[in-house]
Order: sequence, then C-alpha cells, then structure tokens
Amino acid sequence: MTLAVSDTPSPEPALHVARCSKSFQGPGQEKVRAVDDVSFTVPAGQIVALLGSNGAGKSTLLSMVAGGTLPDEGRIHVSGADLTELPSWKRVGHLRLVRQNPEYSVFPALTIEENFALAAASTRRRPKMRRAELREEATKLLEPFGLNLESRLSALAGSLSGGQRQAVAVAIAMLAGTGLLLLDEHVAALDPRSARLVSDQTEQGLRATGASALMVTHDMTHALERSDRILMMHRGQLVLDISGPDKDDLDAPALIRRFETETGGRVSDRELLS
Ligand SMILES: Nc1ncnc2c1ncn2[C@@H]1O[C@H](COP(=O)(O)OP(=O)(O)OP(=O)(O)O)[C@@H](O)[C@H]1O
Ligand SMILES: [Mg+2]
Repeated sequence: MTLAVSDTPSPEPALHVARCSKSFQGPGQEKVRAVDDVSFTVPAGQIVALLGSNGAGKSTLLSMVAGGTLPDEGRIHVSGADLTELPSWKRVGHLRLVRQNPEYSVFPALTIEENFALAAASTRRRPKMRRAELREEATKLLEPFGLNLESRLSALAGSLSGGQRQAVAVAIAMLAGTGLLLLDEHVAALDPRSARLVSDQTEQGLRATGASALMVTHDMTHALERSDRILMMHRGQLVLDISGPDKDDLDAPALIRRFETETGGRVSDRELLS
C-alpha cells in the first residue's frame, strides 16, 4: 500500500519528494521497481529517519534526491527549488550526501583544509571565504568530534581513518551551510565508538545550525531517539510515516509490529535491522 500524501509543496520545506518512481532492469533480468510512487516532505529543521529492509529502495531514493539517479517519474524540490533534472554537481549548494563508505566522503588526494575550501567555494552562501576564516571555521566544526582533526588541517584526507573521514564529511556539510543533509547509513561502517561519536556530533550540528536531514539507518532505537519523524519503506513503497505524539509512544518492538501490520506479513527483526 502507498501512503496518500499531498502532491502540493507546503511553503518551502527542506525537501519535497512528489510521486517519485524508479525502476531498474539489467539485461535478461526482471524489472525491479526500486522506488514506487513515493511522496513525502522533510520540513525545514527536522531530522527524518528512513528505515526499511535490505533492498527496500532507501539508497535509490537518496540517490534521486542527490542527483545520482534520475527518477522515471515524479518531482524533487529542495527548499522550494525544483532540482529533479539538475546534475548532482550542481546540487552541492543545496544539499550534501554522506554515504556509508568513508572512501567516498572526502577527496583523498586533497588535505583536510583543501576539502573544506572546495566545499566552501561550491556553496552559494560561503563562496569567498578567506583562508584564515576558513581555518577558523573548520577548527570550530572539527573540535567537537574530539579527534584532534583541527590540528591536522594540512594532512591528506586519504591518510585518515574511516571515522575521521566521516567526521570531516559531516563538518564540511555543516560549513557549507546547505539546508539539507542526506545521510545514507553514514556511521554503519565505523567501529562502535566512532559510530556513536560521529552520530552524536551529526545530530548536535544539525540542531545547532537548524539544518534538515534525511537519515537512512537500520538502528531503530537510534532513529526513534534522534529523529523528529520516521519513514519506513518496503519493496519500493513508503508504508509508514510516524511523527509527533504517535512516535513518542513507540519503542523498537512496537515499531516492528506497526511495520508488520502495514506490510501484512512477518518481517524478521533481523531482516529489518540488518
Ligand atoms: N543500479 C542498479 N541497477 C539495478 N538494480 C538496482 C540498482 N540500484 C538498486 N537496484 C535494486 O533496487 C532495489 C532497491 O535497492 P536500494 O539499494 O535502493 O535498497 P536499500 O533500501 O538501500 O537497501 P540496503 O538496506 O541493503 O542498503 C534493490 O532490489 C536493488 O537490487
Ligand atoms: Mg542502501
């Protein structure tokens, strides 16, 4: 079942996805409807968690918003601007995507400072930052991670560990001042300590800057604690959209039960959480 959500954008939400669909078909393979008529909004300043089992379509959806995948149907608005057909490199002023694999989150051949400078130059808000100002901002954003990265601004990003790279990627997203952060399991490949650190600082940074986020995670407890709203996908469709008091009353087992009821079948906890 698909949730009935209005197609009309409300006044400038951070993200409005309107009736988006995407199918894939490899040679000689059956067509997969990876995203099937999905509509939702992320209101400005909210953190929205996107959950669902493997293959539910979460990454495809984020990729459509980030510009890596063109939807077959539907429109994507970010802060009121229709970005549906805009190439990904032209979206950097509007949004940032941090993926699971730290290999993709920074430019390894550039220093930490150069990574910051590139991001600042590509945004509409901070295109002409002076070097001293840039270093000061980078220091301010990196310090809270407690990884001493602020004293290594001249180090090559390629020399950093996975957790350090994700921390730099999140700090850069904050510097860029983009209104929308797309997080595709951005701490899932990290050791538990780094994962907690990066995820805590991501949330604090988002709340401090008033930025919005669409955050894919398999960690339901984390999603319930940290997000303002929970979306759940199943086989390409959006099957749950929970916020407000309804969400406050939920714990992970209750959320799984809601998901089972909506999908009409038993989905194992492991499948959902893996
Ligand atoms: N480039 C592609 N070519 C063919 N099929 C694809 C492609 N990308 C995704 N798919 C298929 O689309 C469906 C949704 O995949 P997607 O990666 O969006 O799921 P997901 O919810 O992110 O899963 P996971 O939790 O495992 O990351 C899957 O059946 C997947 O095999
Ligand atoms: Mg995925």
